[in-house]
Amino acid sequence: MNFFLILTFFAAFSVSMAFPRRRSKPREDNCLFGDGSSYRGDISKSARGKHCLNWKYFSIPWGASEGVDNHKYCRNPDQSLMPWCFVRRGNRFVREFCNIPTCSTPSHPVDTELTCGEKSERKQHKIVGGAFTSIKSHPWVAAIFNRRYGFLCGGTLIAPCWVLTAAHCFPDGAEANDLSVYLGKNAINETDADKEQSFNVEKVIIHTEFNEENHNNDIALLKIKSSNGECAVKTASVRTACIPPSNRELPAEYQCTIAGFGKGAYASWHYTQYLKEGKVNLLSRTACNSSLHYKGLITDKMMCARSPDWRTDACKGDSGGPLVCDMAGRMFLFGIVSWGEDCAKKNKPGVYTQVTKYNRWIAEKTQLPKYTEGIMYPTK
Ligand SMILES: *[C@@H]1O[C@H](CO)[C@@H](O)[C@H](O)[C@H]1NC(C)=O
Ligand SMILES: *[C@@H]1O[C@H](CO)[C@@H](O)[C@H](O)[C@H]1NC(C)=O
Repeated sequence: MNFFLILTFFAAFSVSMAFPRRRSKPREDNCLFGDGSSYRGDISKSARGKHCLNWKYFSIPWGASEGVDNHKYCRNPDQSLMPWCFVRRGNRFVREFCNIPTCSTPSHPVDTELTCGEKSERKQHKIVGGAFTSIKSHPWVAAIFNRRYGFLCGGTLIAPCWVLTAAHCFPDGAEANDLSVYLGKNAINETDADKEQSFNVEKVIIHTEFNEENHNNDIALLKIKSSNGECAVKTASVRTACIPPSNRELPAEYQCTIAGFGKGAYASWHYTQYLKEGKVNLLSRTACNSSLHYKGLITDKMMCARSPDWRTDACKGDSGGPLVCDMAGRMFLFGIVSWGEDCAKKNKPGVYTQVTKYNRWIAEKTQLPKYTEGIMYPTK
C-alpha cells in the first residue's frame, strides 16, 4: 500500500524566514497612557536622572487609589502633565517629572473561545480536484515548516497560541527549534508580510500513544510564539477554528471542507504552492471499515470522508490540515488530515483523526478547557 503518510521529500524551494515586526504589546499600567494617572509601573527616577524619594516621607493628600503608597515609583496622583516624584535638590525636596515610555498601540485583537470559526470571506472560487481559495476563507490554516527542509505539514489554529496538527508530521520526534509556523499564508512559496504572521515553536506535544503502524492517535499540538513574544493576532487572514463538543459526530454524507497546500495529484512532484480547498462528504465509520474500503484498518478515533465522485481528496502535504464543518455559520474542526491510500483513488477515502475524541487531551495539554468545551456549538 502506498500511504502518503511518510514525508519522503520536501518541496524544493527555500522558505523566506522574514519575520514581520510587530511592536510588543505594552501593558497599559506599565507605560504612559494619556496623562499617566493610570501608570503603575516601577520607574523611580526623574527625567533629570534623580532618584525618587519614597512618598511616605511627605505629607500628601493622595493614597493607594491614586497609586501612591509606601514606594518611590513615579505617579501622577494630581492630574499633572505626567507622572512625577519628589527628589532631593541640594537640601530641598522638589517635584520632578519622570520620563515614562508611551504605550505604543492599543492591545492587539485576539480570538477567544467565543469568536472562533468565523471566516472573513464566504465567496467560493474553484486539494486533488479541489479549488484554489483564499486564506481568508480558511484563516485557521497554518503552514508548518522545517527550517532546513521547507514545508512540512498543515495545521489548524485552535487558540491564539496553539496549532493542532498530525503526529505523523514528526516521524523522528521534533525539535521545537527546527520548526516555524506561518498563519495567513496564501501560497507556501510567497511572502505577504501584510497578511502573514510567523512564529517560532515553543513546545511540540506529540500524542504519546500515536501508533505509527495503524496511525491511531495521529494528533499533535504546537505552542507558537512570535519573535517578540506574541501569539496569533486576529486579522481577516488569521482566525481560530472552533472545536466541537467532546464525542460529537456528524451523520454520514454531511458535507465538510478540507484545505491545504498539498499536492494536486499523487504523481506530481511539487506541492501546489497555493492554498486549495475541497468539499468532502463524511462516510460512516462502519462503511469505511468494511471490505469495500479499508477493511478493518479504521479505529474508533478515525473518521473518513470522500467526495461522491472520488475526485476530491486530501493528499500528501495536506497532512495535519483541517477538515472543518459548517454548523450554523461557524466552522468547527472535526478532522485532522491523517492518511489514505494514494489520493482521490476510488473506494479509498481520506482518513482523518477525529478531533472530538481528544477534547480532554487538548484541554489538558493547552490548559485551555474553555476552548474545548464546544460552547459555540449550536444546540437545537
Ligand atoms: C510560487 O510557485 C508558483 C508555481 O510553481 C510560481 O508560479 C510562482 O512564481 C512562485 N512564486 C514565487 C514568489 O516564487
Ligand atoms: C474495524 O474492523 C476491525 C477488524 O474487524 C475491528 O477490529 C475494529 O474494531 C473495527 N473498527 C471499528 C471502528 O469498528
